[in-house]
Amino acid sequence: MTGAGLRVYDTAEELAAAAAGLFADLAAAEVEAKGVFTAALSGGSTPGMTYDALAGPDRAGRVPWQGVHLFWGDERCVGPDDPESNFAMARERLISRVDIPGENIHRMRGEDHPAASARRYEEELTGFFTSLGPPGSAPGTGVPALDLVFLGLGADCHTLSLFPGTAALEETERLVVENYIPRLGSWRLTMTPRLVGAAGSAVFLVSGGGKAEALVRALGGGEGDCPARLIRSSRLDPDNDWPLWLVDRAAARLL
Ligand code: 6PG
Repeated sequence: MTGAGLRVYDTAEELAAAAAGLFADLAAAEVEAKGVFTAALSGGSTPGMTYDALAGPDRAGRVPWQGVHLFWGDERCVGPDDPESNFAMARERLISRVDIPGENIHRMRGEDHPAASARRYEEELTGFFTSLGPPGSAPGTGVPALDLVFLGLGADCHTLSLFPGTAALEETERLVVENYIPRLGSWRLTMTPRLVGAAGSAVFLVSGGGKAEALVRALGGGEGDCPARLIRSSRLDPDNDWPLWLVDRAAARLL
């Protein structure tokens, strides 16, 4: 395993606390340095505990929410009040509990036509980062540079909505795409590896024994189609821990 950092925590709660602490520390540093902190939230169930920890009394006060801008790494093609919505989960567990301005929330419009919504999101994201000036893009790539991208890992080695065998895995130019997932019989919106690769930090949050085999494949190479392995830094100045894997002991049981 090269170029990636791995930190193993005894419990899912400790993993969530560490992820929340990392978010809070990065946010404080980036808002102090450049007045803004941009983060893409992951979907699924794992990050919910991290959002709870982040909204909790001992952390929310440390985060300069006025300067924090939230994006989404992916979204299901449903409305913002649908129980399946990644935005709805983040609104319930985090956004509704902290003092972040509404204009700082950049949700993917899952309720719109997938192709149009993907293009609209890419335009909104690109426009936002262009407005930031030079710090807005990754050195050497010209691609919008999020400060932090949280990522999950599926048992089939998918991340974001980059599922094995789907069209989005082949995308090398666009930053946000619509992606049909045959196994689910549904459309998704997802950031592409090109966009994530420009981020300052990419942090996988992996919890539970059901992810153990996928984690081995994602970290060690191994056989087969593992979309999580497409997440690689394209920056000229990547951190040593890029990507950083925050996992619990159950997920790490086969390492
Ligand atoms: C989604 C996520 C997806 C998720 C993994 C893990 O929209 O579902 O973006 O990539 O991170 O499926 O999901 P769990 O955390 O629920 O196991």
